[in-house]
Amino acid sequence: MKGIFPIDKFKQLQTPFYYYNTELLRETLALVRQEADKYNYHIHYAVKANANHKILTIIRENGLGADCVSGGEIKACLEAGFPAGKIVYAGVGKADWEINLGLDNNIFCFNVESAAELEVINELAGIKGKIAPIALRINPEVDAHTHAYITTGLKENKFGINLSQMNGIIDRFDTLKNVKLIGLHFHIGSQITDLTSFQALCSRVNEIQESMYRRQIIIPNLNFGGGLGIDYHHPNRQPIPDFKEYFAIFHKHVKLRPIQQVHFEPGRSIVGQCGSLITKVLYVKEGSYKKFAILDAGFTELIRPAFYQAYHKIENITSDGEIEKYDVVGPICESSDCFGKEIDLNKVHRGDLIALRSAGAYGEIMASRYNCRELPKAYYSDTL
Ligand code: LLP
Repeated sequence: MKGIFPIDKFKQLQTPFYYYNTELLRETLALVRQEADKYNYHIHYAVKANANHKILTIIRENGLGADCVSGGEIKACLEAGFPAGKIVYAGVGKADWEINLGLDNNIFCFNVESAAELEVINELAGIKGKIAPIALRINPEVDAHTHAYITTGLKENKFGINLSQMNGIIDRFDTLKNVKLIGLHFHIGSQITDLTSFQALCSRVNEIQESMYRRQIIIPNLNFGGGLGIDYHHPNRQPIPDFKEYFAIFHKHVKLRPIQQVHFEPGRSIVGQCGSLITKVLYVKEGSYKKFAILDAGFTELIRPAFYQAYHKIENITSDGEIEKYDVVGPICESSDCFGKEIDLNKVHRGDLIALRSAGAYGEIMASRYNCRELPKAYYSDTL
């Protein structure tokens, strides 16, 4: 598997850095398009997973729209050439300037998370003499069976409008003249590998649709969010997630009314496997009962292991030595700066290159400057 990296080229570069396999990204995008096009589904890439300009540009070239959660992300997408008409904007705390940015650019839709926010968007749109397109983000109370920090569709989460309040908020559209209800939005969580959770979401949406239908309301757009997981343990086994099965679940289980359009917001499943964090071993420290491989990357470059106890496969890509066990740690002055304990690696020497795999999503974008470190650079397979 070491063959997947251009190691001679890596040796000339300063570590740590992100390396993106743009061929894999393009193949992933081709497949997601092919499978979504079967059903005429609309895909808005969840920019929060990775807002690197080149990655965004490749995604836009492949015809996807964008799902943004901040004014900064909207700007990054416009700079990468995404048409505003394919941008959806979600988030529990939209500031006035961010709402105005969306209004000025005529984005496709604001995904609204509370009655208070709806009032503010109505007011700001009124000042501009515009009518803001709105999707209500409904909390569907469906368990995604994933890590608690990335579960969003439960009653206790801060996201979305409670089911019990939905009808009351829909009634508000009769009096608010500068907003128009065009969609319902759902997102149950991230890194979901048990696809029955999506089936449960479909059933819940059908129930909601039934109750609306009884009130003679048909809402033209349904957005099922993101959340499809990737295989962190075997990044090479099936590097492109099973979009075929994923979309087939919605096609089979959601009851659509004739005019309805379906939207998705995948992030991790698009970019996760195409990125690796490449880092160098600074020292091998032999403790009294364990060995530490000390890297020049830490949680400043990849925070997921420290933040969510997330697993990333770690490979020594420049050694063929015997397998030994190491605690793989970074240089940051915090005990949580650890990428993995008791990890099997080919014998590690100072200067070896280590790859942390499946780091294309929520990797580079979550990097920080803690300890006054530089933000990591990025390189791409098609230009290296
Ligand atoms: N739509 C909404 C409304 C979301 O909140 C998210 C992710 C997505 C779409 C994209 O979900 P995806 O397809 O990437 O699962 N930093 C965490 C993940 C946080 C996900 C937040 N929301 C991590 O590193 O695992």
